[in-house]
Amino acid sequence: MKYIWTVANVLSLALGLAAAPVPWPPTPSDIVWCKLLKIGAPIVADSPSTPIHGLQLSVDTATPTLVGKGFTGSYDFISGGIGAWRGCHDYWLNIGTSPYSYKPLTWDFDYKVTTTWTASAGSLVRAGATADYLATNTFLVCNQTGWVVYLQTGTDVPPGVTCYITQLKVNTFTFP
Ligand SMILES: *[C@@H]1O[C@H](CO)[C@@H](O)[C@H](O)[C@H]1NC(C)=O
Repeated sequence: MKYIWTVANVLSLALGLAAAPVPWPPTPSDIVWCKLLKIGAPIVADSPSTPIHGLQLSVDTATPTLVGKGFTGSYDFISGGIGAWRGCHDYWLNIGTSPYSYKPLTWDFDYKVTTTWTASAGSLVRAGATADYLATNTFLVCNQTGWVVYLQTGTDVPPGVTCYITQLKVNTFTFP
């Protein structure tokens, strides 16, 4: 177990990544594989004419935001969910409710509510239709507490803040 940890840490250092394989609590189970760092490609904003183009989706806060480079995790696309892998658990990307067309998003640990996502490496993230809105791959990103990401299902925009329309693309993994 100790040896595996060391290998994972050396590997991650060699790749220029953070040494800690699991940056967040809660602690995952003690299965050896769960301690290993899983490396994947980021999800990035794809909207060339905007200042947020190329920024990465962050999993570091419960509210998804776009940040600069630094993504060191990987995503699971399972049964209509988008999960950010954390040691044999996932933070699932869930779509909240709102009277406005822009819907709040959250990362929820081990709790998958939204099962209407379509996403895969090299493709745009798409939310399937529900009783409330049509399928869409449009997101609204607003300069609030960082660049906060919403699913955009219409034309509403929150007042008083700068927002940009974007799509989110799952990058294909290339070895660093
Ligand atoms: C984002 O908002 C902050 C605070 O209101 C402001 O200082 C900054 O210029 C804004 N940035 C952009 C790119 O709109």
